[in-house]
Amino acid sequence: MSKQSALLTTSTASFFIEVVNGALVIRHWGAPVVGDIAELALALENSIANSSWDEPQSPGLMRESSRGFLGRPTLSGHRQGTAWSTQFEVTDFHHIENHCEVILRDFHAELELTISFDLDSHGVLIQKAAVKNIGSSDYSLNEFIHWLPLPQEATQTLDFAGRWSNERQPQRRDIQTGTWVRESREGRSGHNFSIADIALTAQTSFQSGSAWATSIAWSGNSHYLVERLFDGSQSMGAGELLLPGEVILAANESYEAPAIFAVYSANGLDGISSAFHAHLRARAVHPKRARPLTLNMWEALYFDHNETKIRELVDVAVEIGIERVVLDDGWFHSRRNDRSGLGDWVIDPAVWPNGLTPIIEYINNKGIEFGLWFEGEMVNPDSDLYRAHPEWILHEGDRVPPLWRHQLVLDLGNEGAFNHVLEQSSAILASHNISYIKWDHNRVLVDAGHLGRAGVRRQTQAIYKLFAELKRRHPGLEIESCASGGARIDLGVIDLVDRFWTSDNNDALERQTIQRWTSQVIPPELLGTHIGPTHGHQTGRTLELSMRATTALFGHAGIEWNITEATAEERKHLATWATYYKENRALLHSGKSIRVDYPDDHGYLYGVSSSDTKKSIFAYVQLTPTTSIHPAALKFPGLDPDATYLVQAVFPAGKPRYMLISPPAWMSGVRFSGSALSSIGVSAPILAPANAVLIEITKI
Ligand code: GLA
Repeated sequence: MSKQSALLTTSTASFFIEVVNGALVIRHWGAPVVGDIAELALALENSIANSSWDEPQSPGLMRESSRGFLGRPTLSGHRQGTAWSTQFEVTDFHHIENHCEVILRDFHAELELTISFDLDSHGVLIQKAAVKNIGSSDYSLNEFIHWLPLPQEATQTLDFAGRWSNERQPQRRDIQTGTWVRESREGRSGHNFSIADIALTAQTSFQSGSAWATSIAWSGNSHYLVERLFDGSQSMGAGELLLPGEVILAANESYEAPAIFAVYSANGLDGISSAFHAHLRARAVHPKRARPLTLNMWEALYFDHNETKIRELVDVAVEIGIERVVLDDGWFHSRRNDRSGLGDWVIDPAVWPNGLTPIIEYINNKGIEFGLWFEGEMVNPDSDLYRAHPEWILHEGDRVPPLWRHQLVLDLGNEGAFNHVLEQSSAILASHNISYIKWDHNRVLVDAGHLGRAGVRRQTQAIYKLFAELKRRHPGLEIESCASGGARIDLGVIDLVDRFWTSDNNDALERQTIQRWTSQVIPPELLGTHIGPTHGHQTGRTLELSMRATTALFGHAGIEWNITEATAEERKHLATWATYYKENRALLHSGKSIRVDYPDDHGYLYGVSSSDTKKSIFAYVQLTPTTSIHPAALKFPGLDPDATYLVQAVFPAGKPRYMLISPPAWMSGVRFSGSALSSIGVSAPILAPANAVLIEITKI
């Protein structure tokens, strides 16, 4: 082993880097390595191929053409056309346990790069980098991408695409020679943002096979890349997508690249999600309080803010056991519909003549917390703010960007605009008992200029600063990140927020897939999941309450429905479901999420098991009709094989709709070993499509 090398390792993954001829080379990222690897460099040295370099090249993670690399470089930029090609040399190498920090310098291009790698105890590799201009002229940075090598058994990739109301739909394809790029250019992470890019073998499933995942910690423009070169090498990369001239470093200035979080799993896609969940749960800022059962009033009220109606909703909420009520869009100046008011964060006396205090007190007096909606980055042209400061929008030259939902984006990189939003929103929080805000972002950024320069990076940093400042000023404040549903769910904003609004689509059938894949990275306690109305407002579909309630159970649960219209029986079911959620949220929000490789594609089987495997709650969901009479048996992995378990169906929100004469006998309770449950399983009930049943598995 050369002197300058570092093996970062845990029981699930290893990462090995070394310095070769001054270049920093990642030799391995994947399965854990033990034992003697002193001759690893020799073992991995390639043949000298025909028609090729006379000596083997080790271009390293900077992927420089000066070191013989023929793919996309890690860093690109220039000084007015010079310093266009680099050759970084490692000058400092510090390695302590699972942390390694390396400084590389190129004295010709006059750049210094500090890059660090941390492998945490859950197997999450965190890669950070900063590029510093150590010359005296300006350096224009075009891009910096974090790359990780992939072995050739990774023949496929999985990433996510989507749109409003249908976020995070998986797409899986073969890796072929060339570069595959997924760009996000919305100025927010976006509905179509890939929350992770995952390389896998053709056989990798939820429970088995190798997978290599990266997730970028950034809420602005970004790109993920998968590259396979004609020499057979392949790699995956992720970085901020910089607009032309967005980063020009003056002497001594640095660019800090968004970090990437990378996970290797030998145990399929669930191995990836377990590592991300464990890592995120270990953060000091991870919410510690039990996640309050929430009533969001958006779909019950829309813009019709009416105190009497809200009191009626709250009275029913009390009956059900709601712990937090959120007043959504429509409370502020002139906001009678979505055409006006954004930017004027003062209470509208037209709808709230006595202010918000009486309704907040009414809610608080029932023992319920109050939350309020904001969309601080936005402005309607029809607002006092825009009339006073039309120049405060992100724009280029004399152009005004096209409207989207009748709104424009405020340039939070502008000090005046930033302070306006901060002070107005902070004043509302300071003068009311508001413990929670839902912060929305309902349009994309285009032509987003700040004083003649591209302004997306600055805007992204500004919203991070604003969230941090609101939390500093209002200790205990929780923030829900919403962006037309789930268009700002990413590891960049996650340390500043306490909940994500997963999707505007409250249709439980659609939510099954959206939640299944959002939880690939984000643990369920951070994902808002609401019981929607009987007839879904997005799809118009009619679903059983039991289906809606089962779906909403697997997240930070809530209701978004005019519950004054619920029947007496439905209210009773909502109350028993609320109790069930409260009794089981400690498990649901700390346990291991399991997605079973269910053999029929008409159904999903998934659940959460406590870390000691004493209790699990699973959902069997029939999405579409089956072809055969009896669906495949329900098998439950991950239990203690030697223990005996009681398996039974539970119905906290009423029965599902069946298509059978009598359901399988085990549903009233059967004892079975953990081993039998994973290898033999129990018979699946025949459900009507779009129905679900909850199953509890308890160690005896
Ligand atoms: C967005 C959000 C919704 C709701 C509306 C209000 O669409 O995703 O939940 O807050 O805005 O206008």
